Formats: sequence, structure tokens, C-alpha cells
Amino acid sequence: MTVTIRDIAADAGVSVATVSRALSGNGRVGEATRARITEAVARLGYQPNDLARSLHGGATGTIAVLVPDITNPFFPELVAGIQAVANERENLLLLCQTGEDASTAVRELRHLRRKRVDGVVLVGGLAPDDALGGALAGMPLVTVDRDTGLPARWSVRADHRSGGRIATEHLVELGHERIAHVAGPARLSVAQERLAGHQEALAASGLEVDDALVVHGDFGEAGGYDALRTLLRRRREFSAVFCSNDLAAVGALRALDEAGFRVPDDVSLVGFDDIHLAGYLRPALTTVRQPIHELGRRAATLLLEHAVPGGAERHEVLEVSLVRRDSARSVRGRR
Ligand code: RIB
Repeated sequence: MTVTIRDIAADAGVSVATVSRALSGNGRVGEATRARITEAVARLGYQPNDLARSLHGGATGTIAVLVPDITNPFFPELVAGIQAVANERENLLLLCQTGEDASTAVRELRHLRRKRVDGVVLVGGLAPDDALGGALAGMPLVTVDRDTGLPARWSVRADHRSGGRIATEHLVELGHERIAHVAGPARLSVAQERLAGHQEALAASGLEVDDALVVHGDFGEAGGYDALRTLLRRRREFSAVFCSNDLAAVGALRALDEAGFRVPDDVSLVGFDDIHLAGYLRPALTTVRQPIHELGRRAATLLLEHAVPGGAERHEVLEVSLVRRDSARSVRGRR
């Protein structure tokens, strides 16, 4: 037989309202009364009913995260950070994949609303869709990594522009003057910001910003491979490539190898993310590290601590850093 809140109230000799106040932590309950209620809960084995609690406007202890592509190692590492905080606060985490498709996101958000989730962490970058705003209306929401294009009261991201600048400055310091860039999808804020940082660093060093040395990929290995082949077909001299994410660098590495270029002896290569595989490539990838796990932790913490109606708006930007490995070297070293 399921133990109910009424059984606890009868056993402890108090009203159901008193038990509800003691369990939710809302409102005053005398210490002796609280002790009797706690003892009854333990002895009778009472389990709060999340669905019943949600129907009375309470929290369900369930949050959700929507990511574009679970096959890209960046996102599982991000979700692990969200999961860590959800576990610490005894929340259940639901994972949804949007495929960067706004209608899929809208459909999943409608399901999540029916399940009365307490809030959502969303990786933006979805194609504009009028229904998205409606599907998110009234839902506690934290945007992480990519912008949604909608007004956001709570967000966490890495400093993508600074990362683009750091990657390029490193290659300039190594003596490279013709640096190609495999950018991410042009519509994504993160790709735009990294490209801007890259071009800023070139200009600050007095180097030509040559649009023919920029090709947009799709943040996947195949996109990186195709982008490098496009660069090679253009026959524009370059001695280094900065890729807007590590998976694109994986594809670029293969394209350079097939074309007979050695990394880093002939061409230096730098990525972005520092996914766990980056250090296992040969040569190990020099890259810009995003604090991926911390991004997830911060997003979940913002959702569970701040994203409430009337909560103070908050936008966090986490620093990135250069991880020097073997895929980039001095031009002088080659001569
Ligand atoms: O590798 C996937 C990319 O998409 C990362 O750079 C991350 O910032 C996400 O936006």
C-alpha cells in the first residue's frame, strides 16, 4: 500500500498542511513537530509524489537539456556537467537532441511542458521559428553556448571571440603569415565570434585578411575535410589552419594528409573545444580549450538557483585558454 501524506499527518498527530509545510520547507513548523513528522516519514517509508506535487504547482525535480548533436563529443561533455549538478540537487535530467531543427525543438519543448519539467537548458543556434518563442513562454530557461536569437534572461557561454583571437595570435607568434580558417556554420553566433576574433588578430598583426582563406564547414569531420580540399583547390598559399572546432580539425588533418602535407612540418593546425580526443590525435592537437564541463555546471546552477519568475537576469562568460600540443610549430622550425 502506498504511504500518503495523510498517513504521515495521522501518525504524527498534525494536519496535512503542517506535514506539507515541513516537507517543502515553506512556512514555519515547530522543532518538536518537525521531529515527529521526520520520524514518521522514515518509519512509514513515505515517498513524495512528484506528479502530485507538480499538479499543486510544486517542483517536479526534473529538468531538461536540449542539444543539437550527441555524436559531437563537445555536447556529451557539456551534459555531464549539467548532470553533475542535477545529481547533487537530486534532480532528474531529461536529454533531448534537436538536430539544430527548430520544429524538433518545439515538439520536444511541448512534451517537456506536459511533463511539467522545472526548467530547460537550451543550446541555441536553431533556425528562426516563430513557434519556438511560444514553446518556451513561461518556461524557466537558461541558454548555453549558442544564442537562441530570442531574449534570454539567463545564459552561459565561453568567450568565443577571445578564443578565435588566441588561436590566431599563437600561429602569428610562430611566424605564420598566411593563416587559413575553417569556420563553423555562418549562421551560428559561436562561429561568427571566432571568425571575428581570428580576423581581429590578423589585422592587429598587420597581416592581410584574405577572404579566400576562409571556408565555412559544418562543425563536423566531413565539413572540415571538404573545407580543406576547397582551400587547397583555391591554390592560395597558407602555412597554417585554424579550425573553429576540433572535429573540423580532424577532417582537415585527413585532407592535408591525403594531399601530401605533413602536420606540423608543412602546415600547422589549431582547433577549438579541447574535446577529450584532441590529445589522442597524431599529432596531438593544439587547440583552444572551452571549460566544457564547467559550462554545463554553471548552466544547471543558474537554472536551479536563479531562473525563477522575477529572478535577477544573469549572463556568464567563461574564459578559454590555449592548449599547446604537437600540431602547430614555428615556421622557422621548418626552414
Ligand atoms: O564542436 C561543436 C561546437 O558547437 C563547439 O565549438 C561548441 O561551442 C558548439 O557551439
